[in-house]
Amino acid sequence: MGKVILTGDRPTGRLHLGHYVGSLRRRVELQNSGEFEKIFIMIADAQALTDNADNPEKIRQNIIEVALDYLSAGLDPEKVTIFIQSQVPELCELAFYYMNLVSVQRLQRNPTVKQEIQLRGFSDNEDEQNRKGIPVGFFTYPISQASDITAFRATTVPVGVDQAPMIEQTREIVHKFNSVYGETLVTPEMLLPENAVCCRLPGTDGKAKMSKSLGNCIYLSDTTKEVKKKVNSMFTDPLHLQIEDPGHVEGNVVFTYLDAFCKDEHFAKYLPDYENLDQMKAHYERGGLGDGTCKKFLFNIMEEMLQPIRERRAQYEQNIPAVYEILRKGSEVARTEAAKTLADVRKAMQINYFDDADLIAEHTRKYQK
Ligand code: TRP
Repeated sequence: MGKVILTGDRPTGRLHLGHYVGSLRRRVELQNSGEFEKIFIMIADAQALTDNADNPEKIRQNIIEVALDYLSAGLDPEKVTIFIQSQVPELCELAFYYMNLVSVQRLQRNPTVKQEIQLRGFSDNEDEQNRKGIPVGFFTYPISQASDITAFRATTVPVGVDQAPMIEQTREIVHKFNSVYGETLVTPEMLLPENAVCCRLPGTDGKAKMSKSLGNCIYLSDTTKEVKKKVNSMFTDPLHLQIEDPGHVEGNVVFTYLDAFCKDEHFAKYLPDYENLDQMKAHYERGGLGDGTCKKFLFNIMEEMLQPIRERRAQYEQNIPAVYEILRKGSEVARTEAAKTLADVRKAMQINYFDDADLIAEHTRKYQK
């Protein structure tokens, strides 16, 4: 059996550079590696609704944005299946059966769920002051995610570290299912980003994470002008006041981004004073290298990366119906695939009554006098 990838994103906003270095760029490489028999990329609208029940319009608006970001980043619908989660109802049925294999306590211990409960302001202590209880659908979304992964018999799930508890939970469900009902489901492996800085790109303000609500993101769809403005306003080293002052590269967003994006060949092209990033960092730390030069360099590198993405986006934007058609076709392919797994699951659980000749024969004998 060949290797299969499944991964996805919640359509709650346009994708930013954090998504690009953390996952998108890698997906395109994996797509072109020829190592995988099938690749499924899912727009997780149903999962996004688990904590956006009151705002389906936000999700509805962002599906196309995420699809455009995927395509413009270089995902090729000829090579990967891009689909919308809610259009594959088989996933719900799988989740419904998996729910019986997971305890409430186990879900409560899931670190990602725990953290998100805090972040979303949900409370398990629903009282007068804080009436925002935890939606059941939100609480159980790790189970739904196990359905997403297993439905496509994914061997490989490329995600960021924050998703580790989800993959772990999926593996437990697979193990439990297979031991109760017989070998049916495939155990997935998580595939983490290679480069440590890629796991979590900080915001332009130096905050730990790019986040829409903090307004510290560079979006894949940003214009040259927007990117320039954002790079120029990046948080650097507050102690580096004069060019001659020694600077710090740790916690300096410009250098963190350079760690993520810069290759040696960029120096020859845009900053021939240095051969590589180590030399440049050493000069900055010694003193004598200004933030303006560093920012200009970073901007050039980012533009080189973003320009082709922008051009592809502009092309797809000219044909939105075709993009929806890609999603419709992808969802059809995904349904067919998930239906196969669902049939296996029903058979393993012996709830495929109408296909079960033995069952009918058994009951015929039981009542034959
Ligand atoms: N939970 C993921 C996120 O928030 C999105 C997602 C849903 C996903 N289902 C998945 C990722 C299955 C990988 C596999 O980013």
